[in-house]
Amino acid sequence: MVLTCYQGEPLPQPVAALLEAGDFGGQAGELLLLYPRETLPCRRLLLLGLGERDKISTAGMREAGARAVRKARDMQQPQFVMGLPASGLFVPGQVARALAEGMLLGAYRYLEHKSSLKPEQSRQVEQVTLLTDDTSAVGPVEQGITQGQIMARGVTRARDLVNAPGNWLTPTRMAEIAQEIGTHSGLQATVLGLEELQQQGFGGLLAVAQGSAQPPRFIILEHGQPAADRPTICLVGKGVTFDTGGISLKPGAGMEEMKTDMGGAAAVLGAMQVVGELGLSLHVVALIGAAENMPGANAYKPGDVIGTLSGKTVEVLNTDAEGRIVMADALFYAQRYQPQAVVDIATLTGAMRIALGPHAIGVIGNNQPLIDQMQRAGETSAERVWQLPLWDAYREMVKSKVADIRNTGGGREAGSITAAAFLEHFVGDMAWAHLDIAGTARSDTPGVCGVPGATGVGVMLLVQMLLDWIEARPAGM
Ligand code: BES
Ligand code: ZN
Ligand code: ZN
Repeated sequence: MVLTCYQGEPLPQPVAALLEAGDFGGQAGELLLLYPRETLPCRRLLLLGLGERDKISTAGMREAGARAVRKARDMQQPQFVMGLPASGLFVPGQVARALAEGMLLGAYRYLEHKSSLKPEQSRQVEQVTLLTDDTSAVGPVEQGITQGQIMARGVTRARDLVNAPGNWLTPTRMAEIAQEIGTHSGLQATVLGLEELQQQGFGGLLAVAQGSAQPPRFIILEHGQPAADRPTICLVGKGVTFDTGGISLKPGAGMEEMKTDMGGAAAVLGAMQVVGELGLSLHVVALIGAAENMPGANAYKPGDVIGTLSGKTVEVLNTDAEGRIVMADALFYAQRYQPQAVVDIATLTGAMRIALGPHAIGVIGNNQPLIDQMQRAGETSAERVWQLPLWDAYREMVKSKVADIRNTGGGREAGSITAAAFLEHFVGDMAWAHLDIAGTARSDTPGVCGVPGATGVGVMLLVQMLLDWIEARPAGM
């Protein structure tokens, strides 16, 4: 049995009698294992601290679920019961949802490519029972658990994709997985292959892919139909399945990390799975440009001028600034849906990791109500979003002498913003927000709910933004 406790609050009497005063303070993350013997109807009692009652957050509640499930797993317990923590800040359904999310995310491991597993690696908690003495809460709690499970499955889907090695997750394989998600979650999937991309003029996507033996793919996943009472929202993801930098080759040390350069696509796919399973009353269209960025005999080169789907020409200063070129075609394609909003998500710039570290997603866009909406969704989903400016001075930096625009700002200054200034050329008059997750898509130190590697960041944020949209449209949209 797991019993949660807020910091500095007394334990219930039969439990308090089991320990010496002062041995357990209820600090966030504090754990104490007790053996009540005959005094309580459980063999093991795990006390779990939640920190201060008025400071508890969704993230804190998730973290509590993650700790409980990992401790139980360490102790080889296939099941446990847990009292639903009371909270003045959240209704019982929200608490249950956050706990369910935390338990599933905290238990996550990526062991796909191990040919055999040690006993402790295959062990997993199979069942958790939440207890509440408030009968009116049972319905909402059950609903919260179901929502949390759906959400967490979307996040682990994204984590699996981001953790997958580049030779395993090629653009072709990503498109197949998108089709599988479509089938299972009731979405319509369309995949454009090399010939269609050539016919339709996806010059950006093709230029990035041309150095690789792996053909690119353009992936479209659609939920619902456009209707007067159903706004259309487009989600656009960067799906660079491996980024060597191309001819502007990256240094060798740490290059393996660039298998995660499809983190934006993974977030979009995970979010679409959730959108389909929750059956949201919106028309949501996901667009993903999938390509591998390689230095090959046929690779695009610095100094090249390429055409894009939009007709605009791009001077390539650096082939490692490939993400924005792939995104350019996908963003332009979004315009045909005439969406109320387009949100793009990409592991776009190392500069964003320098700016915000692993603690926040950078947002830049052309529509303040939409940006505010993203920041609010980030507060709710506990995936924090921080805005950077897009002023004319930055727009100047991507001007080119030989083509319509160039793909870098010429140097490293304001790298995240000049990337957004580039993207802006392809959004037309759509309300647009760009999320840069280069700093947050993976984490070496235990990331979300204590799991290193892929975080699955963006899934919960995008879904929360859509849920909020159903509740109330942002002003003027
Ligand atoms: N995929 C990288 C950005 C990145 C860096 C993601 C670190 C995750 C971790 C992107 O394609 C890139 O290489 N950007 C360059 C742009 C530069 C050449 C203008 C960068 O950030 O250095
Ligand atoms: Zn790059
Ligand atoms: Zn990249």
